[in-house]
Formats: sequence, C-alpha cells, structure tokens
Amino acid sequence: MSTPFLDACRGEPTPRPPLWLMRQAGRYLPEYREVRKNVTFLELCKTPRLAAEVTLQPIRRFAFDAAILFSDLLIPLEAMGQTVSFTEDGPTVTPPVRSAADLDRLATFDPWERTPFVLETIRLLRPQLGETPLIGFAGAPFTTATYAIEGRTSRRFVETKKLFYREPATAHRLLELIESATRAYLLAQVASGAQAIQIFDSWLGVVSPEEWDEFVVEPTTRLVAAVKASGVPVIYFPNGATTILDRIARVGADVYGIDWRLPLDQARARLAAGGAPNAAVQGNLDPAVLLGPIERIRQQAADLVKCGASRGHVFNLGHGIYPETPIESVEALIRSVRGE
Ligand code: CP3
Repeated sequence: MSTPFLDACRGEPTPRPPLWLMRQAGRYLPEYREVRKNVTFLELCKTPRLAAEVTLQPIRRFAFDAAILFSDLLIPLEAMGQTVSFTEDGPTVTPPVRSAADLDRLATFDPWERTPFVLETIRLLRPQLGETPLIGFAGAPFTTATYAIEGRTSRRFVETKKLFYREPATAHRLLELIESATRAYLLAQVASGAQAIQIFDSWLGVVSPEEWDEFVVEPTTRLVAAVKASGVPVIYFPNGATTILDRIARVGADVYGIDWRLPLDQARARLAAGGAPNAAVQGNLDPAVLLGPIERIRQQAADLVKCGASRGHVFNLGHGIYPETPIESVEALIRSVRGE
C-alpha cells in the first residue's frame, strides 16, 4: 500500500510531508471530552466501539494522514500482572517491581486472551479508516520498565536507577521480560491490521550513554527487529535523548521520532553519523508553539517543512499535543503544512 505517510516512513520523497500529531485523540478535542464525560479513561481504552470512535475523531475533523490507535502505554503492564489505575494525578501501577521476588510475579501474556479489546478496536477501525493508515503502538522496554518500577510517572527515576545499579541482573531480566511481552503484543496488533508501529521511549532522556549501552540498546533493538520482520515500518521515539542519537541510530528503526530540542537537519546528521543515513525522521514542532499566535505557528511550520526537505519526513510535534491547545491553532498548522 502506498500513501504519503507510509512512503515517508520508507524514506521516500513526498509532495508534502504527511502529518499526524502525537496524542491527536485527546482532551483538546471537545468531542473527546464529550465521550469521556460518561466513562473512565480505562473503560474508554477497553471498550472497542468507543476507543475506535475517539481514534476516528481527529481524522474526521482534520483529515490527518495517519490515525493512531487509542489505548495506553500501561495496558501491557496490567496484562503482565500489575494493577493499573488512573487518577487526577496521573497513573499508578501496583505493586512496584523493586526486587527479583517482585519480578517473579510478572509474566508474558497472550494478547488475544488478555488484551482482546485492543485487537478488536483495530479490527473495527480498519474498514472505517479507508485509505488512512493506522498506527499501532506500545511503550519501549525502558519507558514501560520505569512505570513497572516507579509505580507512577517519575521525575528523578530514583527507583529505576537503584535497580540498575544495585540489582543489574533483575533490571536486565525485567527489560527482557517486557521486551518479549511487548513483541507479542505488537505482532498481534499488526496481525489485526495495524499498518505501522510506533514505540514510545518517552523517558529515555534520563538515560546516560553508559546505561543505554549496558541495559537499553539490546532489548530495544530486538523489539524493533521483531516488529520490522512482520513487514510494517517501525517509528522509534527516543524522547529527550537526541544527545545520544548517534548510539540510538543502531536500533534499526525505519523512522526516528525527534523531540523539539534539536533541529531536524542536525538530527539527520547525527543519525547518519550513527550509521543510519537513510532513516526517515518524524517531528518536531514544539507543542507549546500551538499555544502562541497563529502567525508564528504558520512561520515555524513552514520553516520545518523546508528543514524536512519532503524526503522521509513525517511532520509531527516534538511530543504530545497539550490539552490546552486551541482548535484554531491546529487548523492553522495543518493549512501551513499543506501549503494553503
Ligand atoms: O496519541 C494518541 O492520540 C493515542 C492515544 C495515547 C494515549 N496515551 C491516550 C491518553 C497514546 C499513544 C498514549 C501513550 C502514553 N501513555 C505514553 C507515551 C506517550 C508520550 O506522551 O510520551 C505515556 C507516558 C502514557 C502514560 C499516561 N497515560 C500518562 C502519564 C497519562 C496521564 C498524563 C495525562 O496526559 O493526563 C495517561 C493518560 C492518557 N493517555 C490520556 C490520554 C488521552 C488522558 C486521559 C484522560 O482522558 O483523562
């Protein structure tokens, strides 16, 4: 199948960069808030009819060039044996993994048995999406492990680092377990109809070059290779970690998601230095730009289109869209990227 999004993922030139936004289904949309009034976030994730509906909302409104499955990064941890809940203050995961004994309570899972709602959402979506490709996703081993270990979104990742340094064998074993569970989970998404996969490494920015080499690169590379072997392009998003992008280039992804902290042309140069000169890039407008004046949004979007050179460039934000974003700002961004 050839669409601007899938072409760009393969590094090919496109008349204009295809466009989607991380977190494009979410609270900045009034129609999302309307659906969310009546259900909890986890109920929304686990009700295929509703999850499919909110996945489609931004496609109907903005005709983005790709849809992303509505779900959450923590769904696999629940399937592995932890308890996940969402409150005003964000997610909690219990009991946290702090020792080898804690780890023994987690296991890989059969996605068809434990997460059938995710696969059913994908099956419902595909015929409704027509030509618009559907992106499936999961967390990367490191980012998923931080939730398993910390039990919530962390600021300093003290427990994660303690496990790395005090119980390295347990840390390795946890990352390997998450990799194999995530592998089966993503392959089931592909089998159900996902046409590309994004792997979110949202907290990779706290990882040192040494930690990357010792703990993270191996399971991440294995996961990327396994998903690529299924035939769909893989987007790897190492948020906050462009300082080690040359090392990251070795994971073998088709596309690297770039956050807003490094210009896209410099990101391409670092990927080339790391051995991935032909990889595509995705990004990387600062989501905060959408909170500013329309004229500035148009200017920065046009500059970014130029910087991406319409070759292997998937236009996106450098991280998820903020719930405070005005709809008019998204509309202005889209017109600019489309050259209107
Ligand atoms: O991109 C999309 O539109 C698809 C949906 C999606 C959600 N979560 C919906 C969501 C995706 C791809 C995710 C991934 C996710 N979940 C990540 C990685 C992405 C990233 O931004 O780096 C992470 C770290 C999580 C864990 C998570 N889920 C947190 C920390 C939170 C709370 C923070 C917040 O923004 O409120 C969530 C909740 C969540 N996931 C919401 C949505 C729409 C808000 C829930 C609500 O409706 O109240």
